[in-house]
Amino acid sequence: MRALVADSLERPAERVAVMEAAESALRRPSADGWALGAVESGQLVGCVVHGFFAGADRVGRILAMAVAPAVRRQGIGRALLDAAMTQLASEGARFILAEIPTGAAEHVPYTRFLANAGFTQEGRIDGYFRAEAALAIMRRDL
Ligand SMILES: CC(C)(COP(=O)(O)OP(=O)(O)OC[C@H]1O[C@@H](n2cnc3c(N)ncnc32)[C@H](O)[C@@H]1OP(=O)(O)O)[C@@H](O)C(=O)NCCC(=O)NCCS
Repeated sequence: MRALVADSLERPAERVAVMEAAESALRRPSADGWALGAVESGQLVGCVVHGFFAGADRVGRILAMAVAPAVRRQGIGRALLDAAMTQLASEGARFILAEIPTGAAEHVPYTRFLANAGFTQEGRIDGYFRAEAALAIMRRDL
């Protein structure tokens, strides 16, 4: 997991956040966080961490995703996202939110990836992560 996250995310702060979400989901899988992985030739090449927003009424959440750079654009991310959404739907989710950094060039792939999967932007808070990196809230109804 550490190698995948180190390979997939440029920024230390994002690596730490994704590792924490993944480790917590692996240690104690629950509605706060489940983790699914994609394995090729015995290597972990992708993961998604997903769960529910505590206190909300059945609102699913994509907490983190990573696909190894060498195997991107082969549908692995979409397969992981679809599996996560299927699990959330079967657990009763009404819709799904992803809170994502946006604004800098490095965020374009994930933003486009979610848009391609039917997510639309519900809100945006400028300067949330860094001066050039806003928080965007993306939503997909089930
Ligand atoms: C975002 C990410 C998970 C996508 O994984 P992936 O396996 O490459 O995605 P897929 O192959 O399933 O792509 C599905 C569709 O999403 C869109 N997409 C994916 N990557 C894209 C990119 N770099 N630019 C534009 N569109 C992209 C395309 O529409 C693509 O379909 P196509 O290849 O037929 O055109 C991967 O790029 C990644 O791990 N990025 C770094 C980590 C990250 O930003 N995580 C999110 C924050 S936790």
